[in-house]
Amino acid sequence: MPIPFIDLQAQRRRLGQPLEDAILKVVRSGAYVMGPEIAELEAALAAFGQAPHALTCGSGTEALILPLMAWGIGPGDAVFCPSFTFAATAEVMPLVGASPVFVDVLPDTYNLDAQRLDAAIAAVKQEGRLTPRAVMTVDLFGQPADYPAIAEVTRRHGLKLIADSAQGFGCTLFGHHPIHWADVATTSFFPAKPLGAYGDGGAVFSKDARLHDLLVSLRVHGQAVASDLEGRTFHHDPKYLNMRVGLNSRMDTLQAAVLLQKLTIFEDEIEARNRVARRYAEGLGDVVRTPAVITGGTSVWAQYTIEAADRDGLAASLREQGVPSAVYYPAPIHRQAPYAGYPQPGGLPVTEAKASQVISLPMHAYLEPDDQDLVIAAVRAFVKKNAS
Ligand SMILES: Cc1ncc(COP(=O)(O)O)c(C=O)c1O
Repeated sequence: MPIPFIDLQAQRRRLGQPLEDAILKVVRSGAYVMGPEIAELEAALAAFGQAPHALTCGSGTEALILPLMAWGIGPGDAVFCPSFTFAATAEVMPLVGASPVFVDVLPDTYNLDAQRLDAAIAAVKQEGRLTPRAVMTVDLFGQPADYPAIAEVTRRHGLKLIADSAQGFGCTLFGHHPIHWADVATTSFFPAKPLGAYGDGGAVFSKDARLHDLLVSLRVHGQAVASDLEGRTFHHDPKYLNMRVGLNSRMDTLQAAVLLQKLTIFEDEIEARNRVARRYAEGLGDVVRTPAVITGGTSVWAQYTIEAADRDGLAASLREQGVPSAVYYPAPIHRQAPYAGYPQPGGLPVTEAKASQVISLPMHAYLEPDDQDLVIAAVRAFVKKNAS
C-alpha cells in the first residue's frame, strides 16, 4: 500500500457508525440548510476555540471576506498580510475592493514578522495613498503567529487584527487560541485541514456581540438581525428584510454533523500529530532543517515542512522511493499575475528564498511508525547521496 500524504480513510474508520448515523440523521430530517446541527456546532467550536462567538460559514475564504465586509473595508484601504501563504489570504482584499500590502515572514516559523509589519504600516501611512485598516496574520502550517508582538503593532497603529487560522484551528500560544489577541479569527474546514469536513466549510470567531450579529446578517444576504429590528416592527420573516448587501455563505447541515463527530476526537488527533512531528524531528533533525515552533506555541501540524537546497531533487527522489510530498507554496502570492501590482514595502527576501526550499512530508494523526520510518529513510538516503 502506498503511503498516503493525508489519510482521511483511517480517520473515517475510527469514527465508524456514529459518523454514518449522524449523516443519515440529517438526510432523513430534511433540514439540509441551517438545521439544528449548525447551532450545536457553533457552540462546540466556540467552547473548543475559547471564543465568545463562533459563526459557521461556507468556506475559509468567505470566513475572511465576512469581517472585511462587516468593517466596511473597501476601495482605498490597505490590509497587511504575508505573501508566503495560500492565495485566499490575499484574494479577499481585492474582492472587497481593498489592497493587500505584502509583508515578509520570519525565517524560522514562516509567520508574519512584527518588526517588518510595523515598518510597512509606517511606510504606507507616510505615502498617504492607501488607508491602513487591518492586519491579516496567517498561522502557517498550523502554528500560531507571534500574536503578542503583532497585536501590539496592530493596536498601536489603530488597526483591526484578523487571524487567518485556516491551517491552525486548535493551535495555541501560551495556552491561548489566536482569538485571545485578534479581533476576529477564522478557519477552514476543507477536508485536508486538521479539522476537515466532507466538503467546504469555514468559521469566524469573534469577541464582540454586535460584530457577531453583523456577521450573522452578512452570512445570509444582509438579513435583518435582532439589533436591526430594535424599535421597529416587521411582521414577516426577517430573512426578507435585507438591511445590507451580504452573501450566501451558509454551511451545509451535513458538514456540521460531520464536524461535530470529528470534534470529539480532535484533541486526541492534535496530540497524535505532535507525536508524529516529534518523531520526524528526531529522525531528520541532524540532516535537514526541521520546523521550529514559536516559544510557548503548540502547532496542529497542518503540514510538516522541511527545507532542502535541492528541493526539487528531493521531491523527485522521494517520488521514486514511493513517498509522496508537496510544495506549499512554490510561488509566493506577490509573484502571481493578479497580485503583482500590490505594494510590498521593504521587499520580501525571506519569502522569496523559502519558496524555493520548502517541501512538506506526509503528516496526519494516523501515520504509523513503520510508514514514518520509510519517509525518514527516504529523506536520509537522498541527503547522503547528495553529500557523497
Ligand atoms: C491560509 C489559508 N487561508 C484561507 C484558506 C481558504 O480556505 P477555503 O479553502 O476553505 O476557502 C486556506 C485554504 O487552503 C488557507 O490555507
